[in-house]
Amino acid sequence: MVVAGFSDACERNKGVILDVLKSACSDCQSVLEIGSCTGQHVVYFARSLPTIHWQPADTAQYLPGLQARLQTEAPNNVAAAVELDVRMTPWPVGRYDGVFSANTLHYMGADCVEAFFRGVGAALRPGGVLVVYGPFRYDNQFTSDSNARFDKFLREGDPVRGIRDFEWVNQLAATQQLTLVRDVTMPANNQTLVWSKATEP
Ligand SMILES: C[S@@+](CC[C@H](N)C(=O)[O-])C[C@H]1O[C@@H](n2cnc3c(N)ncnc32)[C@H](O)[C@@H]1O
Repeated sequence: MVVAGFSDACERNKGVILDVLKSACSDCQSVLEIGSCTGQHVVYFARSLPTIHWQPADTAQYLPGLQARLQTEAPNNVAAAVELDVRMTPWPVGRYDGVFSANTLHYMGADCVEAFFRGVGAALRPGGVLVVYGPFRYDNQFTSDSNARFDKFLREGDPVRGIRDFEWVNQLAATQQLTLVRDVTMPANNQTLVWSKATEP
């Protein structure tokens, strides 16, 4: 039997992320989550925002644990999880009013971050929103000493990982007609970035 994974951080941050999602996704009928992992976020957000249809997704290694949580805890407005590596072309999903992802961009290589934005650009409908939660650097500076230590820890584990520069990520977003509309400073030295996709191509 596969046991669902569990993240203490998800339990700590899900409430504050929900506060941002409530306004950012107020016009969304469907949201795709990239890197759903343990499924704690998608289950909590789907229960809290029941009018939105949620599509969880993750790479093959996390699917069994994700499916285990969804089978026992997911409300009806959560679809079955799909296997999605951001490097897939095209992404094996439909089109959505929103895309959400937490703590993913620093856990993947730069090529994957670029693929993430290309995929989001294709998956988002005109006028849709992208919401990304996690740590970022601004003007080549970490926002805290603990984030600098976290970045070192990430790179020691895998040199391709690391906390991303906000300016670079925002440039990638711009290539997909995504305009930053909110940058919310969150607890524990994290940000929630919200982009809106142009209504016209
Ligand atoms: C630290 S976990 C974060 C999980 C969860 N979103 C959270 O906030 O706890 C990093 C996530 O990034 C995902 N990820 C890393 N590389 C990826 C890739 N190439 N394509 C899709 N997801 C990827 C992992 O599968 C994992 O779910």
